[in-house]
Amino acid sequence: MMRRFFRSVCFSLLAGGVLLGARPSVGEAAVRDEGRWWQDAIFYEIYPRSFQDSDGDGVGDLKGIVARLDYLQKLGVTALWITPFFLSPMVDFGYDVSDYRKVDPLFGRDEDFDVLLREAKKRGLRVVIDLVLNHTSDQHPYFLESRSSRTSPKRDWYIWKDPGPNGEPPNNWKGFEQTSWEFDPSTGQYFYHYFCKEQPDLNWRNPEVQQAMLSILSEWVARGVDGFRLDAINYLIEHPDLPDNPLASEVPPEERFIVNYDQIPRYSVNQPENFGLFELLRRHVEDSHGPDVLLLGEAWVPSLKDLLPIYGVSGQGIHLPFNFFFLQQPKLEAEGFAKVLRESDAILGTRPTTMVLSNHDMARATWRYATETNSDSVAKALGALELAAPGVPVLYYGEELGMRGREPQSLDEVRDPLGRNQWPAFKGRDLARTPVAWDEGPNGGFSTGKPWLALAPFDLRRSVAVQSADRDSVLNFYRALIALRKNEPALRQGRLEAVEAHGTVLQFRRRAGEKAILVMLNLSDRPAPAPDFSGKTLLGSHAGKWGAVLAPWEVRIGSDVVLSSSR
Ligand code: NOJ
Repeated sequence: MMRRFFRSVCFSLLAGGVLLGARPSVGEAAVRDEGRWWQDAIFYEIYPRSFQDSDGDGVGDLKGIVARLDYLQKLGVTALWITPFFLSPMVDFGYDVSDYRKVDPLFGRDEDFDVLLREAKKRGLRVVIDLVLNHTSDQHPYFLESRSSRTSPKRDWYIWKDPGPNGEPPNNWKGFEQTSWEFDPSTGQYFYHYFCKEQPDLNWRNPEVQQAMLSILSEWVARGVDGFRLDAINYLIEHPDLPDNPLASEVPPEERFIVNYDQIPRYSVNQPENFGLFELLRRHVEDSHGPDVLLLGEAWVPSLKDLLPIYGVSGQGIHLPFNFFFLQQPKLEAEGFAKVLRESDAILGTRPTTMVLSNHDMARATWRYATETNSDSVAKALGALELAAPGVPVLYYGEELGMRGREPQSLDEVRDPLGRNQWPAFKGRDLARTPVAWDEGPNGGFSTGKPWLALAPFDLRRSVAVQSADRDSVLNFYRALIALRKNEPALRQGRLEAVEAHGTVLQFRRRAGEKAILVMLNLSDRPAPAPDFSGKTLLGSHAGKWGAVLAPWEVRIGSDVVLSSSR
């Protein structure tokens, strides 16, 4: 099935279509992207609600981010991705936008964003914002106009369908909710929403919709942003015939990578027609704004090879689609990670990719892979993997502190709509979105008011202030890792070599020219034999001389190494 899917993807791209234009050859495209700023960047994702509150309402804001830019500069990251801060009813905490051009008052004033941009640039930090293209809020003027009558000029900007013969929804599709169709009594039709019913899907087949969204993108570029994290890009187009989606139990395991309730979104997600739109987006940014505006795409796909058409057959699609295959590893095991490293390298080749282990939609990697007891050690190993492996690192706020987050204890506490819909089977994403502890003051210095989500006691004990003063903290290890990556071309752009798993030890080499760097990670609570090493120590998680045994979770990074062939 997957093979068939992939073939049809390539076929549709090669066949071209109304949205596809002339493309340069693969070689040209590669040359074009080489040296682009993002290839050397270290990204840091900020979820503004939880970063720093400046006005005591318990919700983080743009001024709060500005107040912490010095911290970010000292950490060493080079680019910020800020999740949505636009006007929104906040049903999905900003991923339901009612005005793409305005800052929501919860996050500040419009001018606050300009200050943020200016102050970030002063510190050498690029700023990428989140653009939600697939859907708007149901309070967006486009949708209000669209639902006002069947003859509205914007009716076709969304996906409206007649009920079935007995008044039922047009098909069985599910997404964030039990049904993806919401009936509108006043006009007698259903509208489609993959996410919450307050997030109607735009009709991306309509050229007016395409133009409207492209103009929003251009306005933000004119305002000074460096690029866009494009939300849910593989959801833009639905199958034209709207066939029923299959049950998870009816499809082979490899197709069950997204399960909505009991269903697989075979016809609602990852449709080949999306690829033409990616080319349209790329062509628009390049033609209108030059080669330096980044498109960082969020696309959950079944396998690594399914990322290829997102880049575009000739590299004319999304610059940097997220590679979510590390973050999907069920266990923090050497063999599993070695396999993804090898496969990413083999399949993606020289295309730039990302290295991401946590984000605002997933429990943090520390939560998934560690207990409170070993969490700090695991956090250091994760940091080393993220900053020494190939791929542009995209750190999630608080990762550098080893934050774990906190799970809601009852339905009352849940803020995430997904958790509210699916409780208790799924407790939602609040766990990943708890606020940062900056110091030992009330609420960890995050807010003088009641935080919108409670901070985790574990995280409160590991505030920025506490960790800054501790030489062996996770924070200081991250700072050192980031500095090392910035210093060593082999860690930024070097080839990946000799990826090996020896029991619990993951090791790999990065090479740029004559310089090779060896990375060794013991992904275990037990000691393990250390790989032979005859080079220079660059950075380690444990003080002292490097002996023949790696301590639990020990990280060693060394240069000028010779790998033993006896292993
Ligand atoms: C993906 C975002 O990361 C997630 O947080 C959001 O709920 C959906 N897209 C809908 O916009």
